[in-house]
Amino acid sequence: MILDLLASQSQTCKACRLSEGRTTVVFGEGNPDAQLMIVGEGPGEDEDKTGRPFVGRAGQLLDKILEAAGIPRSSVYIANIVKCRPPGNRAPLPDEAKICTALWLNKQIETIRPQIIAPLGASSAEFFLGDKVSITKIRGQWLDWQGIKLFPMFHPAYLLRNAARTPGSPKALTWQDIQEVKRMLGTLGPKQGQEVKATSQQPLF
Ligand code: URA
Repeated sequence: MILDLLASQSQTCKACRLSEGRTTVVFGEGNPDAQLMIVGEGPGEDEDKTGRPFVGRAGQLLDKILEAAGIPRSSVYIANIVKCRPPGNRAPLPDEAKICTALWLNKQIETIRPQIIAPLGASSAEFFLGDKVSITKIRGQWLDWQGIKLFPMFHPAYLLRNAARTPGSPKALTWQDIQEVKRMLGTLGPKQGQEVKATSQQPLF
């Protein structure tokens, strides 16, 4: 399986300075046939220890958000812009993001071919949009990235720091956003190539 091969190759990556401080490379995990791919910024302390994306406090909130919308975590693929923990949880630097995405994230996307990508937070959205962005301005909108529907959302770590649930709050907006993702998932047909796979075992007459 291509993803397994990439994941094992990534474990010895030393292409940028982030490799120096990491404990574990956090390649990403989930359904290799996912229609929805969620892309965070980079591993935090818990992810660096366990080698799994979004398992710390922000990850637990992400799990709740997905569950509340009826999107099983096991149905999506979860990855990050950079695969190694930036020191002190700082945002990845532009060269780190460039090197790491060219080596790993782009290949993950090419392999999974999701119909929707939801970047979480500004630094993830910036990779896809190629420019500094205000996540507050661009979240909750359907954009296009190389023919894939792009739907930026707030990062769950931001929601942990802004816990109000009042109308218009980041949490309230995220609740709207995830329901919009769920609605869009319900409108998607099978991914290109899957239709043929699904019928190839049956008589074609
Ligand atoms: N924050 C991220 O952006 N990614 C993780 O995997 C965990 C926390």
